[in-house]
Amino acid sequence: MKPKAMCGATEVYPVDILEDDPQAYQTAAEGYYDLLRDGGQTSTEVFSLPTGEQVRLESSSLCFCSMYCDEPQHKILVLVNPQDTKTVVAVYLKESWWSMEDVLRTSDPTREGLMKVQSFGERIVLFVLNTIVFGRLERNLDDDDMFFLPHPTKEQAKIMWRDGAAVGFYSIKRKGSLCGGGTSACYLLPVFDTVFVRRKNRCQGLGTAMLRDFCDTFQEDEALGISCPISPAMYKVLRQFLLTYPGERGRLWEVEPPGAWGQRFNIWLKVYLQEAKLQDGVDHQRTRNDTELPRICQKREGSWDAPETFLA
Ligand SMILES: CC(C)(COP(=O)(O)OP(=O)(O)OC[C@H]1O[C@@H](n2cnc3c(N)ncnc32)[C@H](O)[C@@H]1OP(=O)(O)O)[C@@H](O)C(=O)NCCC(=O)NCCS
Repeated sequence: MKPKAMCGATEVYPVDILEDDPQAYQTAAEGYYDLLRDGGQTSTEVFSLPTGEQVRLESSSLCFCSMYCDEPQHKILVLVNPQDTKTVVAVYLKESWWSMEDVLRTSDPTREGLMKVQSFGERIVLFVLNTIVFGRLERNLDDDDMFFLPHPTKEQAKIMWRDGAAVGFYSIKRKGSLCGGGTSACYLLPVFDTVFVRRKNRCQGLGTAMLRDFCDTFQEDEALGISCPISPAMYKVLRQFLLTYPGERGRLWEVEPPGAWGQRFNIWLKVYLQEAKLQDGVDHQRTRNDTELPRICQKREGSWDAPETFLA
């Protein structure tokens, strides 16, 4: 079964044509699933993978995935590989099955660069990039590599579009928004929460561009958070970023929610300490325990010239 939506010679993709109506989508998907399960639809239909392999469209290979962590009742219908039922191979949208790559494509030339997630179609792209591409297809499953839960329904996020495809995203927690997890605590500063760039698009400056966009969005705030834990690759990005933009050194903090001063660790100082440790072969963290370090970093004013001198 192939996507039917065509517009002249230009193929259109789900993000360009999906109505902004999650409820209608869900009803249609459930109807299709029921038909297939009850044998109303022939199970001789197959979906062809880019590898040439064919997956039979039958209810045992279909699965409803929760799109949001805070409203699990909103689901999208996916097709999994029968040999590896954790691997999603296609998504059911607009009464057709679409491969992962097609779900991420757009034929709209104005979708280029960083764009806010607003429509239902863009929420699906965010979900697929986060949960399916990063969470499964492009994560190193052998390592204890980090992954992100599905975002909440109204999470503020931007997708990075490049040459007709979604290649990355970042999400933020606004100052004053609820921390979640059943508490009534609210974030005390804007926080750069999740970020991902597809493997084939890495080391081309996209991670840096998203960080720059975040800092520019909150120009008025004197402190900005990056959610803890920060991956080693993201530390590399931050190190390079703070070398390039010294004015941001006093503003960027690794934070635990809600981001009170005792839950912040200045990132530039952490980079400095890590490099000092590497150069001296001295374990600086052993000389000050973890509860002392955040207090050392509670500097609200002044310059951060010591790390700069060290790293020059
Ligand atoms: C972290 C991540 C978003 C970086 O995206 P990116 O687009 O590759 O980052 P950039 O191209 O802007 O990199 C900026 C700098 O960091 C360096 N860098 C980035 N990743 C690196 C890595 N894995 N190893 C060494 N250096 C790295 C780049 O070389 C670049 O420096 P340069 O200007 O000297 O080339 C991406 O690796 C990713 O999605 N990782 C998986 C998810 C993740 O870890 N998210 C962060 C959670 S805290």
